[in-house]
Amino acid sequence: MYAPVDKPAFWENKYKTDQANWDTKSYNPVFAELLDNYELIKTGKILIAGCGKGYDAIIAAQKKYKVTAIDFSSTAINYAKQLAIQSNVNIEFLNEDIFTLSDDYSESFDLVYEYTTYCAINPERRKEFARKISSLIKKGGRLIAILFPVDKRESGPPFSIDVQEFYKNFSEYLHLELSNRQINSIKPRKGKEILQIYIKKWSMI
Ligand SMILES: C[S@@+](CC[C@H](N)C(=O)[O-])C[C@H]1O[C@@H](n2cnc3c(N)ncnc32)[C@H](O)[C@@H]1O
Repeated sequence: MYAPVDKPAFWENKYKTDQANWDTKSYNPVFAELLDNYELIKTGKILIAGCGKGYDAIIAAQKKYKVTAIDFSSTAINYAKQLAIQSNVNIEFLNEDIFTLSDDYSESFDLVYEYTTYCAINPERRKEFARKISSLIKKGGRLIAILFPVDKRESGPPFSIDVQEFYKNFSEYLHLELSNRQINSIKPRKGKEILQIYIKKWSMI
């Protein structure tokens, strides 16, 4: 029996009672570096899936990407909106469930970024998540996933990620381009993260 992670109320409660212990209060340095250096990522439209308080969305917008950020916790989204105003960047914030995001967004992003969201959803919905996320990426677009935690734990969230299982779920729709364990993770997560980049070679429409 899993915690009720499918319900926004579960996450709302974590944010409101100061139990958002995944919150690093900063953007992910690995993501920021990739936006600067990974030559295959062109400027374009990015979706930050499960954006939390919005740090990664803001750094991407500061680097001139056109950013949409989604999270079904209104407390997280409201915080992120305020931070965007203070940072003087324009971001489209969606206070919605990723699984039910409108088909209007199908194949509309050059890049989807996921960090600590795959490990936060109900593990029984991982195949569904892979399909939904892949459906949002344009043909020729990419998924950047920083997989955490790639260790073994009894329960969650965060639920452990098995890299092979992640690959199996996403390679139904996307092609693995890069997989790297040697990344500049923040100290407490060192050795427990893997960067993977996938490209979408075929349209799903
Ligand atoms: C562990 S937190 C990570 C947040 C952020 N990525 C970060 O690194 O701080 C997971 C986030 O995903 C959001 N989330 C979980 N399931 C979701 C869903 N189905 N649709 C939208 N947001 C979801 C939660 O509200 C929460 O903010």
